[in-house]
Amino acid sequence: MNEFKRTATIVDTSRRHALKALGLSTIALAAPGLLRSGPALAIPADIAMKVIPRTGETVPAVGMGTHMTFDIKPGKPREHLREVMKIFYDGGGRVIDTSPLYGLAEVTIGDYATALGITRDLFLADKIWVTGEWLGDDSHAQRQFQRSKERLWRDQIDLMQVHSLVNARTVIRAMREWKEDGQIRYLGATHHLPSYFHLMAPWVEKGALDFVQVRYSLATRLAEERILPAALDTGTAVMVNMPFEKARLFQIVKGRPLPDFAGEIGAETWAQFFLKWIISHPAVTCAIPATTKPKHQADNIGALKGPLPDKEMRSRMLKHMETIPEFDKVAKMPAYPGKTFDGVVKRGPRSPGKRK
Ligand SMILES: NC(=O)c1ccc[n+]([C@@H]2O[C@H](COP(=O)([O-])OP(=O)(O)OC[C@H]3O[C@@H](n4cnc5c(N)ncnc54)[C@H](OP(=O)(O)O)[C@@H]3O)[C@@H](O)[C@H]2O)c1
Repeated sequence: MNEFKRTATIVDTSRRHALKALGLSTIALAAPGLLRSGPALAIPADIAMKVIPRTGETVPAVGMGTHMTFDIKPGKPREHLREVMKIFYDGGGRVIDTSPLYGLAEVTIGDYATALGITRDLFLADKIWVTGEWLGDDSHAQRQFQRSKERLWRDQIDLMQVHSLVNARTVIRAMREWKEDGQIRYLGATHHLPSYFHLMAPWVEKGALDFVQVRYSLATRLAEERILPAALDTGTAVMVNMPFEKARLFQIVKGRPLPDFAGEIGAETWAQFFLKWIISHPAVTCAIPATTKPKHQADNIGALKGPLPDKEMRSRMLKHMETIPEFDKVAKMPAYPGKTFDGVVKRGPRSPGKRK
C-alpha cells in the first residue's frame, strides 16, 4: 500500500509544468548545434508527469518508441510520421526513444523535430551497443555516438542506454565519461526479453544506472519481481518498452468493448487502458508506445489525461484481462499482427518481419 502512496507523490498532474523550467532548456541553450524555429509549447497542466529520481526533473508519463515505425527508406512516403510527432508533441509528449539499431529512425526524428522546431524541447533517449576492435576498445561506440548526435541534430543526448545489455561494461564506462563531460545527462540500460532480467537486475540493485528500460505490460509482468522494486529502492527511473506487446494485446481484444469500470480511470480506448495500467505503477517513469498512425498517436497520448488507477483498480484491470481468451498466450503470438514495414532494418536476414 505504501508503494501506491508513493505514486501520489511522484505523479504530479496538478502543477503547470514545462520541462524547460526544470532544466531542459538551460541544457538545450548550452548546446550550440540545436535548431528551433518556433516557440516552445508548454506542457499541458493536466497531464500525468513523473519524477526522474536522480534529479527531480519531471517528464510526461507517456513517451514514444520508434522501432520499425520510424525506419523509412529514403524516397518512401513518411509524411505521416511528421503528423505522428506533431500530435505527440502538441498532446504533451516529450520523451522519444530510439537507437542506431532502428535503421533510419534517428534520421526521421532529427528531420521532423527540426522541421517542427521542437528539437530542444524533446527528451531524447538513444542507445549504443557497439564497442571496438579489441577488448576494452570503445572506438566504435564513440563513432556511433557521434553519428547519433549528428542524425538527431543535438550536441547533447538526454539519456544514453546500452542496448539490450550488449557489451554493457565497455559501453557503460564510455557513457560515464560522456555524462561527466556533459554530452549526455543520464545513462541507462535496456532489455525487452524477460529471460535477461536476471542479468539486468544487479545493475539496478547496485544503483549503477539512472534509467532502466524494460518490457512491462499487463501480459508480461516479470519486471515486478526484482527490477521495479529495485528501481524504487535505488532511485532508478524506469522506461517501459513494448507496452502493447508489439500490437498483440490489441489482437486479443479486437471487437471487445472496454469494461464499464474503464470509465472510472478515464480510459476511452484499449490503448489508454493498457498504458494507464503501466504508468500507474509507482516505479514507472514513462511508457514508450510506438505507432505509424496519427490517429493512434492521439489515442496513446490521450492516456496522459484523467485519473490513473490505484492498486485495487490495477488488480481489477488485470483480472479482467485474465478473462479474455488467449491473454496467457500473448507473448507467444507473432509480433506486429497484420503489419508490414519498409525500412532498412527489414533488409536484414533477422529482421522482425522475417522471424518465425
Ligand atoms: N531492447 C530494447 O531496447 C527495446 C526492445 C523493444 C522495444 N524498445 C522500444 O520500445 C518501443 C515500443 O515497443 P515496440 O515498438 O516494440 O512495441 P509496442 O509499442 O508495444 O507496439 C507497437 C505496435 O502497436 C501498434 N499501436 C500503437 N498504438 C496503437 C493504438 N493506439 N491502437 C492500435 N494499435 C496501436 C502499432 O501499430 P500502428 O503503427 O498501426 O499504430 C505498432 O505496430 C520501441 O519502439 C522501442 O523504442 C526497446
